[in-house]
Amino acid sequence: MANRIVQTKAKLLKNIEVANNYYKILVSCPQVAKAAEPGQFVNIKVSEGLQPLLRRPLGIHGVRGQTIEILYESVGKGTELLSKRRPGEYLDVVGPLGNGFGLSLTTRQLWPILVAGGMGVAPLTFLAEKLREIRNPKSEIRILIGAKTKSQILCVEEFRKLGCEVKIATDDGSKGYKGKVTDLLKNLFFPAAGDRRPATIYACGPRLMLKEISRLSLQYKIAAQISLEEHMACGIGACLGCAVNTKDGYKRVCKEGPVFEAKEIIW
Ligand code: FES
Repeated sequence: MANRIVQTKAKLLKNIEVANNYYKILVSCPQVAKAAEPGQFVNIKVSEGLQPLLRRPLGIHGVRGQTIEILYESVGKGTELLSKRRPGEYLDVVGPLGNGFGLSLTTRQLWPILVAGGMGVAPLTFLAEKLREIRNPKSEIRILIGAKTKSQILCVEEFRKLGCEVKIATDDGSKGYKGKVTDLLKNLFFPAAGDRRPATIYACGPRLMLKEISRLSLQYKIAAQISLEEHMACGIGACLGCAVNTKDGYKRVCKEGPVFEAKEIIW
């Protein structure tokens, strides 16, 4: 996949709290916006000072003209600092990084089933937009969103506006199906052998969810692309801190990933 990586000072246009502790930033970043593909991420220096030293890798949530959108949760020092940055300030951004979702001509023909766990929705909105662009406007795109509880279910309206059919699962049953999103996937889309349309699963979320999706995809012989979340230090392929074991040896999530074919990964 072609990757034109740039380091740039990007003007922060908005930084809004969209739900409790979840924020969306819009940054003017023309070169990144032009080159970005769904599933890729940017590395952002969250403060102007030296601390924290490491950049934060954040998935690209959407592209609007020359602007990129990032959805993130304020969960640690870095993202908390980012949540305090104000419109008009400049952020040091490197991107777009990594390999995103593969949308080959063959893949495009298949029925897309998107599966998100928690913050895994962040890159899948961008993917849904792209799929909408390249597929017939009336074609079905389904998204299953899972989280611990209702307040952590994000982006439902964004997906609906894109004409996606949205299904929800919460661990505590406060919204939608009570249980894991992978159980919902199994119940809804793998009801009986011989009664399945050719599909591709695109998933992003916690490791255990992705592991189960890989298992299901092998069991039901359905292609699946999964976006792995790993702790990243350099984010540019230099430190090997994000390596995962695959059938072809170790690969770096930040460089060869974050999106892999599910069948490649050795769990
Ligand atoms: Fe350094 Fe991936 S984070 S190689």
